[in-house]
Amino acid sequence: MLAGGSGMRLHPMTRAVSKQLLPVYDKPMIYYPLSLLLLAGIRDILVVTTPHDAESFVRLLGDGSQLGVSIRYAVQPSPRGLADAFLVGERFIDGDDVALILGDNLFYGQGLEAMLRVAAGEPDGATIFTYPVRDPTAYGVAEIDAEGRVRSIEEKPAKPRSTFAVTGLYFYDRQVVDIARSLTPSGRGELEITDVNRRYLAQGQLRAQQFGRGVAWLDTGTPDALLQAGHFVEAVQNRQGWKIACLEEVAWRKGYIDDAQVRALAAASPNEYGSYLLALLG
Ligand code: G1P
Repeated sequence: MLAGGSGMRLHPMTRAVSKQLLPVYDKPMIYYPLSLLLLAGIRDILVVTTPHDAESFVRLLGDGSQLGVSIRYAVQPSPRGLADAFLVGERFIDGDDVALILGDNLFYGQGLEAMLRVAAGEPDGATIFTYPVRDPTAYGVAEIDAEGRVRSIEEKPAKPRSTFAVTGLYFYDRQVVDIARSLTPSGRGELEITDVNRRYLAQGQLRAQQFGRGVAWLDTGTPDALLQAGHFVEAVQNRQGWKIACLEEVAWRKGYIDDAQVRALAAASPNEYGSYLLALLG
């Protein structure tokens, strides 16, 4: 999970605090993508962060044992791009398959878990997830044919060939570290994840799963987008009474932690959040 970057577009909010630690309604932003990994059955997690933010993430998430998972940390000395995460994390990946999720991406909707399981179960190649957006120019954009195959993929094109943005969730086979190592930095001086995906595409090994309009993929890159994401979470949670991306709940439902552990976690947050956890136990 990538939680680096300078968060320039959110300054001064992010001058002293990592973007991925900013609140989205009632939880730190990173809870949302992390909950997705837990849902996908991924329990071995590396958080790639900056030298000055690492300590805060450790304070928030610890070694993951409270959630029944393993969370480790690696530092990316300077923002060298998303694909650099595979080089920073090479020892952690250790020749295995790996998923990458961006710490500022929020996904919500029914059926996600099943889609993630399919991607996680693929023996080789890469899987990206696309999402239709009104203005795709700020994203990677995939052109998809009638059979659902990717025809092209471009990073932040001025003239997008489709409205399918490439979301910040990717599954790769063991080739990814070598592919990342072979890339040259882009115009903005970064190893681009889009170039990794293009390599898989050229090899005929890139799959795209399409999130439909029943899924919410929310951006948190600007003050407006951040506030809208918060309002979205607030509206759904207050209507249903269920929390989105409550890590403790996800871990408990997945059987990673037991009732006693949930009780201990609830006691650590003696407020509405803790009460919610306790109420789960009935
Ligand atoms: C990055 C990727 C882009 C992807 C986006 C998703 O963009 O480069 O392809 O669509 O994340 O959030 P960045 O956040 O670096 O602008």
